[in-house]
Amino acid sequence: MDTQAIKYEIIENIGIITGVNPPVNALSYNVRKGLVEALKLFLKNDNIKGIILCGEGRTFFAGADISEFGKPMQSPNLNEVILEYENSNKPIVAALHGSPLGGGLELAMGCNYRVALSSTKLGLPEVKLGIIPGAGGTQRLPRLAGVEKALSMITSGIPIDAKNALESGIIEEVFEDKLIENALNFIKSKLTLDIHPVASKLTEKVSNVKNDIFINFSNKIEKKHRGRKSPLCAIEAIKATTNLSFTDGLEKERELFKVCHDSKESSSLIHMFFSERKALKIPDIPKDTQILPINSAAVIGCGTMGGGIAMNFANVGIPVTVIENSQDSLDKGMNIIEKNYSNTVSKGRMTQNEFKKRMSLISGSSKLESISNADVVVEAVFEEMNLKKEMFSKIDALAKENSILATNTSTLDIDQIAESTSRPQFVIGTHFFSPANVMKLLEIVRGKHTSKEVIASTMKLAKNIKKVPVLAGNCDGFIGNRMFHEYVRQAHALAEEGAKVADIDRVIYDFGWAMGPFAVNDLAGNDVGWRIRKRHKQEGKYDNLRYTSTVADQLFELGRYGQKTNRGFYIYDQQTREKKIDPEVDMMFEKVAKEKGISRRQIDDKEILSRLSWALLNTGCMILEEGYALRASDIDVTYAYGYGYPHWRGGPMKYAEDYGLEKVLEEIKNYRTKNPDMWPKCNYLEQLVKEKKNFN
Ligand code: 3HC
Ligand code: NAI
Repeated sequence: MDTQAIKYEIIENIGIITGVNPPVNALSYNVRKGLVEALKLFLKNDNIKGIILCGEGRTFFAGADISEFGKPMQSPNLNEVILEYENSNKPIVAALHGSPLGGGLELAMGCNYRVALSSTKLGLPEVKLGIIPGAGGTQRLPRLAGVEKALSMITSGIPIDAKNALESGIIEEVFEDKLIENALNFIKSKLTLDIHPVASKLTEKVSNVKNDIFINFSNKIEKKHRGRKSPLCAIEAIKATTNLSFTDGLEKERELFKVCHDSKESSSLIHMFFSERKALKIPDIPKDTQILPINSAAVIGCGTMGGGIAMNFANVGIPVTVIENSQDSLDKGMNIIEKNYSNTVSKGRMTQNEFKKRMSLISGSSKLESISNADVVVEAVFEEMNLKKEMFSKIDALAKENSILATNTSTLDIDQIAESTSRPQFVIGTHFFSPANVMKLLEIVRGKHTSKEVIASTMKLAKNIKKVPVLAGNCDGFIGNRMFHEYVRQAHALAEEGAKVADIDRVIYDFGWAMGPFAVNDLAGNDVGWRIRKRHKQEGKYDNLRYTSTVADQLFELGRYGQKTNRGFYIYDQQTREKKIDPEVDMMFEKVAKEKGISRRQIDDKEILSRLSWALLNTGCMILEEGYALRASDIDVTYAYGYGYPHWRGGPMKYAEDYGLEKVLEEIKNYRTKNPDMWPKCNYLEQLVKEKKNFN
C-alpha cells in the first residue's frame, strides 16, 4: 500500500521507504505524513529487521516545502517526523543521491546511518532563504561533523560533495552507482551489530569547544553578510550544542528559527528563490519548443567581456573559438584567460588537470571564418552600431545554418543589428555582466524577429553555463542598464545639489549593495559610460534636461576613466587598488551646480537612499508599462544577479513594495515638483497605487 507521496516495499528482511514527490521530493505535508505512516508499519512488522530511506527521481528529499512557509504548519511537522525515525528500534540507513538539502539532510541525520552516491551534493542552505535549519540541523550536524565544519556549512549554505561529507563524518559510505543495492548490503551488514547511536546522542565533537571559534566566525560573517541576521542566528544556534543539552539546543534552534522565519530578510530571499525560477517561464513560449543543440561556440572580440564569455563555455565542457582582429589582441586576450584560470588554481580552487582541460577547450583565431562550425556565435566587439552591423553581415555569410547569432551589446538596438543579416530570427541579445566569468546574470534580449526556438535555446544555454537568465525586450539599455542609467543620473543630481560623492556611495553600500554608483562607474570604466552618453546626446535624449552626468563627462575629458587609469571619481593606489576620496571631484560638482544655477544644500542619508531607490523603481515601472520586462520579479532578479543589489532586500521592486507603493509614489511626487525632469510620470505606478495593488 502506498500513500500519495511515499512508496514502500520489502526486499528480503529490509523495508524500503521511498519519497515520491517530484520534482525534488520537497517535504510537503503528504510526504511527512507518509513518512511516519510507513515507518510505523515497518516497525510493527517483525519480519523487517532494517530500513532504507531514499528518494525516487532526481534527488533524495531536497528540504522543506518552501511554498508552505508562512502558512499554518500541518502536523506532523518535520521535527516530529525526525523524532520518530530517531527513536526507531530497527536500524535505518538514509540512501542519498541528488541534493539532500535542508530538511532532507536533517531527516537523514536523524537516521542511524547515511550512505550516498558519489555525485551527491548535500548541505543546509537555509541561510540562503534567510532562515536557519529548523529541524535539528544546527544541533545534529556539529555532533556529526564538528563545530567548525557545521559553522562553515550552515553559515554559507553551500553544499558539499559526498567525498567531503565522508571525510567529515556526516556519511558512512560512498558508492559510485547502484545506490539501493549497495544500501541493502550496507544495512544487512549492520543487523548483527548493536544499534548505531543517532547524532543527537553524540557528544565528543561538541565538548571542550573554545568560544573563540564563534567570535571569529561572527566577525567574518558580519563583514561578509553586512546587515543580515540569519547567518548570525545560525552561529548562535550552533553554539548551543556546546553549552546546552540536545533538547534545550533544539528549543534554542526553534526560537531563533522563528525570529528568522518572520523576518523581511527571509520573505525577500524566498521571493528571490521563486523569482529566479519564474524568470525561466516565458508565457508565449511553450515548454516543448524545439531546442537547438549547442555543442560548440565562437566568441568574437576577446576584450574585457569576450574572454570571460569564452570561459563560461569552456567551464562546462563546450569547445569555444575566440576571434580577434589581430594576433596581438588575440595573444593579449588569451593571456588574460590563462591568467584568470591560473589564479583559480593558485587559490586551490581548480586542479592543474582541470586547468589544462579548460584551456584546451579554448582556441584562438584571427580569422572570422573560424566561426563556421559554431552552434552559437557571440559577438563582443566595441559598442558601436556601425561596427556591429558590419560584423553581423559577415557573421551571416559565414555562420552555419541554425546557428544562434548573439550580440553582447549592452545598449544597442538588436533589431537594427539583426537587419544586417538575412536571418533576423536567429539574432538575439546575450548581455553578460562584467566580469563575465563571474557574474551570474544573463540578460537575454528578444528582438522583433527572434524566433521562439532561438529564445528557448538561449534560455536553456544560460542554465547550462550556470547563469541566471532574464528575458528583456529591446529598449535602450534593456532592463538593467536602462534603470541603472537613471540611477546614476540621480546620483549625479544629488552630488550637484550638495551631497558628497563618498556619502552617496556610503549610503548605498550600507544599504547592502556591493558598491555605490560612483565606485561602480570607476570599476566599469568612465569611458564606457561616456560612449553611451555621447550616443544619447546625438539622439537628443538629453535635450532640455538639467542633470546629465556633466562631471562624469569632464572626468572623461581629463582622461580619468576610473580604476584603469588610477583616477576617476576616486583616486586609486596603483598597487593595492585602495580608493581615496578625491576632493577635486566634489569641487567639480560644486562648480557645475553653480553654472547650472542649482542651489546647494545639506542632503541627508534618507533622501539619498530614497531618491536612488525610487529612480530605479520609477524606471522599472516604466519598463513594465512598456512591456520590456515580463514581470517585476524579473527586474529584481536582474538587479540581484547583475548589479550587486542585496538579495536579502528582495530587489528594487520588492523593496519598494515592502516600503509601500503608496508612500513611494508620494515621495516621488514630492521630488517631481522640485525636479520634474528627473521624475517622468509613470501611469502604471499611479494605477497600481490607485487600485491599492502590488506587483504580481
Ligand atoms: N520547496 C518547494 N519547491 C521547491 C523546492 C523546495 N524546497 N526546491 C525546489 N522547488 C521547486 C522549484 O521552485 C521548481 O519549481 P518550478 O519547476 O515550478 O519552477 C522545481 O522545484 C525545480 O527546482 P529547480 O528548478 O531549482 O531544480 P534544479 O534541479 O535546478 O535544482 C535543487 C534542484 C538543487 C534541489 C534546487 O531546487 C534547490 O536548491 N532547492 C531548494 C533547496 C532548499 O533550499 N532546501 C531547504 C529548504 S528550507 C528547509 O528545509 C527548512 C528546514 O530546515 C526546516
Ligand atoms: P573591449 O574594448 O574590452 O573589447 C572589445 C574587443 O573587440 C577588443 O579586444 C577588440 O580588439 C575586439 N574587436 C574589435 N573589432 C573586432 C573585429 N572586427 N573582429 C574581432 N575583434 C574585434 O570591450 P568590452 O568591454 O569587452 O565590450 C564588448 C561588448 O560588450 C560591447 O558591446 C559592450 O557594450 C558590451 N558589454 C561591456 C561590458 C563591460 O563592462 N565592459 C558589460 C556588458 C556588455
